[in-house]
Amino acid sequence: DDYEGDGVWRYAHSLPFEEGVSLPEGATPLHEVPQLENELGVDRLRVKHEGLNPTGSFKDRGMTVGVRVAQEMGVDRLACASTGNTSAALAAYGSRAGLETLVLLPQGNVAAGKIAQASLHGARILEVEGNFDTCLDIVGDLADSGEVYLLNSLNPFRLEGQKTIGFEILEQFRDEEGTYPDRIVLPVGNAGNTAALYKCFRELVASGALSERDVPKLTGVQAAGAAPMVEAVEEDLEETRRWDDVETRATAIRIGNPVNAPKALPGIRETGGTAIAVSDEEIQSAQRELAAEGVGVEPASAASIAGLRLLRENGVVTADERVVCLTTGHLLKDPDAAFTAGADPEDVPGTTEGVREYLGLGHE
Ligand code: F0G
Repeated sequence: DDYEGDGVWRYAHSLPFEEGVSLPEGATPLHEVPQLENELGVDRLRVKHEGLNPTGSFKDRGMTVGVRVAQEMGVDRLACASTGNTSAALAAYGSRAGLETLVLLPQGNVAAGKIAQASLHGARILEVEGNFDTCLDIVGDLADSGEVYLLNSLNPFRLEGQKTIGFEILEQFRDEEGTYPDRIVLPVGNAGNTAALYKCFRELVASGALSERDVPKLTGVQAAGAAPMVEAVEEDLEETRRWDDVETRATAIRIGNPVNAPKALPGIRETGGTAIAVSDEEIQSAQRELAAEGVGVEPASAASIAGLRLLRENGVVTADERVVCLTTGHLLKDPDAAFTAGADPEDVPGTTEGVREYLGLGHE
């Protein structure tokens, strides 16, 4: 392929424009994680770390396209509801484009790093009394009446950019392993990525670039306290039931009404995938295990590994599978969660002798 752009814009031929508002985004690494691969007992395990995007999450891939569309349309106020990462990405890409940004966040349930980003990049931040779904209801009303341009994943141009996660995974995996992965495991909130990956695969199959049998099984993971997609898959529902009470420390996926479910459920079903719920404890253990291999992720991202573990234990994932787990956001997004999961700092005196003594080391 002859391409000019970097990262996401390498795939301009499958995007609505040749270029966008870019920092640039995409081209994230596909990490080997030998200890986890061995311990979980799968043939291959790779981690696609989307935390290494410019604002620390996959949202940048969607914003580079979405904000370009907003420029084309000549709108002057961009808005989103967010559990944090979308607001950080919108603030950064919106301000780079010189546009006003408004973000609605669920009061008390957004990780510190994400609010800090939205704040410094100059978004107007509204902390709403209510959860994410309430925020999206409100911002959806504002968008319907033309007062703001909506940049949540309900906006199909966001998903166009997020399709490039799929292109990259397939290319990187094939280049390294000579084959495609059997399964992609990813955390699910609004199910935007699930929908975007499915669209990516369908386009590749339609163009003849990928054969139907090489399409990876899309496998979604939710926190047990916010699992309407898992419920819909398990009960074979046409659409998700809205959960009014959601709870999890993986605040990025603390979502009770996944708006992309109509696009994502067929993706899970038709690729032969599934969906599974994990506890906050399982998420925390997985976060530690990834960190032990040098891969720092926020809690929602670790859900992918936690889900894979359960699916290996119950035999849904078999030992011969080649699996890619998607980690969606960087460790620094949620410093409080990292401190809770990790080791505590220790107070020591300000002398070499004192430190030596504290550590129980011998004298020189
Ligand atoms: N992981 C992280 C780190 C996220 O921030 C999100 C969504 C998801 C997973 C779920 O992705 O919606 O495509 O299923 N965060 C949105 C936000 C809701 O506002 O930042 P999805």
